[in-house]
Amino acid sequence: MAQGELKRSLLNNNPNPKSPIASRSRKRQKIAEHRKSLPIASVEKRLIEEVQKNDVLIIIGETGSGKTTQLPQFLFRAGFCKKRKMVGITQPRRIAAMSIAERVAEESDVELGQRVGYSIRFDDCTSSTTRLKLMTDGFLLREALVDPLLSRYSVIVVDEAHERTVDTDVLLALLKDVQRDRLSGCQGRKVSPLKLIIMSASLDASVFSEYFGGAKAVRVEGRPFHVDILYTVRPVEDYVDAAFNTIFQIHSEEEPGDILVFLTGQEEIESVERLVKEKLKDLPEDERKLLPLVIYSALPSEKQTRVFAPAPTGFRKVILATNIAETSITIPGIRYVIDSGFVKARTYDPSKGIKTLDVVEVSKAQALQRSGRVGREAPGKCFRLYPEREFEKLKDSTKPEIKRCNLSNVILHLKARGIDDIVGFDFIDKPSRGAIVKALAELYLLGALTDDCKLAKPAGEQMSRLPLDPFYSRALILANQFNCLEEMLITVAMLSVESIFYDPLEKREEARNSRTHFANVEGDHLTYLSVYRESDELLEKRNNIMEKWCKDNFVNSGSLKLARDTYREIREHVEQMGFNVSSCGNDMLEYRRCLAASFFLKAAQRQMDGTYRALESGEIVHIHPTSVLFHSKPECVIFDEFIQTSKKYIKNLTRIDHLWLAELVPHHYKIDE
Ligand code: CDP
Ligand code: MG
Repeated sequence: MAQGELKRSLLNNNPNPKSPIASRSRKRQKIAEHRKSLPIASVEKRLIEEVQKNDVLIIIGETGSGKTTQLPQFLFRAGFCKKRKMVGITQPRRIAAMSIAERVAEESDVELGQRVGYSIRFDDCTSSTTRLKLMTDGFLLREALVDPLLSRYSVIVVDEAHERTVDTDVLLALLKDVQRDRLSGCQGRKVSPLKLIIMSASLDASVFSEYFGGAKAVRVEGRPFHVDILYTVRPVEDYVDAAFNTIFQIHSEEEPGDILVFLTGQEEIESVERLVKEKLKDLPEDERKLLPLVIYSALPSEKQTRVFAPAPTGFRKVILATNIAETSITIPGIRYVIDSGFVKARTYDPSKGIKTLDVVEVSKAQALQRSGRVGREAPGKCFRLYPEREFEKLKDSTKPEIKRCNLSNVILHLKARGIDDIVGFDFIDKPSRGAIVKALAELYLLGALTDDCKLAKPAGEQMSRLPLDPFYSRALILANQFNCLEEMLITVAMLSVESIFYDPLEKREEARNSRTHFANVEGDHLTYLSVYRESDELLEKRNNIMEKWCKDNFVNSGSLKLARDTYREIREHVEQMGFNVSSCGNDMLEYRRCLAASFFLKAAQRQMDGTYRALESGEIVHIHPTSVLFHSKPECVIFDEFIQTSKKYIKNLTRIDHLWLAELVPHHYKIDE
């Protein structure tokens, strides 16, 4: 399948029409009616007037009111794209940028990539005619390094600002500067003022308003249909059980309509799926018409698309999902939501460099987002599996990501923009001083900053241009010198995508066995390399056997395709930087030495008792069971990820010789260590 086709099938929520022409006009009419019925439709004129009057405008509205899909089209109609200017709309997530662009293109009846397009990291679907451009916040941040005044844009719409991702926060700070610079006619160029629109689903806009000097906020009222919110009387003992029971309660008592259940992760979802299937076997024939489906980010994309297809006649779909369905995707036909009240949240502890993945309570904003998944096409119900008084106790919103993430990339970005005083920088929420100092030290050790904390030339500049974690950028820069750039590009591409391997609960053993032939005794990086290389050979033979090969080997075909695209894009980047992509052939020693020289801050040594000690933090860690080195336990390894779930684990490992560390990074390791 070509890349474009995959994307279309991933995003296409509609079944294939039988008669293309008739159904096309029917579809157009349906879309026009749908658009008119949205709450935002009646306030188009007022919103445009507010945009014209205010340089910064905050728009608040419940989910489903039509903000994201309609506002760009209002702005286009109001003439904000004249004189070849663009309206840019940012989203926190890639999949949202893609699917919204697709939807807006469809509503505007234009081909995707023409008037309406999207740009996300490693995937550009725009042309010179693009006027409405969807992108991730991160993409716009990098664009601003090349075009500091964002001179091609007349308006920037920052969507889902309430999520407060680190990129959104940094972007808002940047846009504040750009607005000021454009007004003062900075750099001797005449550029018209930039309009900024911040859209948020949360009820409280005061943080944004204050940050922009008392900016005006307008509210879009209402949701097209009524949603009943139901709570439990008492706290439930086990939300998985409660979710299971609620599914069958809805199935037997409520009118037709699909159910969306929010759980926390793959294992939980798979176990509920199994329970539902087992129970269905015991039910009489006419009560069995319930179709369980699952969606989570590690699920291969061709399996993800199943949730979009309508259920067979008479059947009710029950979709078991993680928070991927909270904001990123819109599944039609949902009438009932079951909210477990929990979510798996990633946090980062900068002092130890450890990521944790914990199940935590949702915030009020998340609970609202979940209930907002119904009431879009018809009235709906949301079953919250907790009492109302517990809802009142939830935090209003999740803690801004900037307060719980690794700041290296942010700092690198600010340095590249010539901002040296990071501690004094005008963030909406300031990260802790400790986290800033830690990130500065890390960047210095990685060679991105000089000892007086300026961007190092050329390494720091190169690292700020590469859309990658500074560790990966360093690996590419060094690989250029170690003559293994080809291999490192593949490695970085494979590490940049989530879950290359697919491990369904019931076939875990089979999945692992089928992949043993990829396994490399030296570690996971080389194992990924052999997966990629084998897929290369397949492609040379015939494209269409790839899907089958992925399935047989429990390789996530969507992730592999993404890795292949990622490889091509990063290769272009490094070639533009003047690197010569050469391969080390079979000399994997140089490649491993290059990994050691790049990931030296993530090295771990085996202890007498078989556990490992992370050399940098001193933490005691364990090899993750998914690693090919889980059983062989080499003496010294470098790792890519340090994550705490039930234990402190290190993931994605390669065996190294500990003597290399002192030899290759003498500024950090001494011979006698
Ligand atoms: O941004 P907001 O939550 O206010 O609404 P929106 O995303 O613009 O969605 C407006 C309407 O379009 C909703 O009723 C969605 O169900 C519908 N929509 C859709 O059917 N398909 C999409 N890919 C996106 C939105
Ligand atoms: Mg929206």
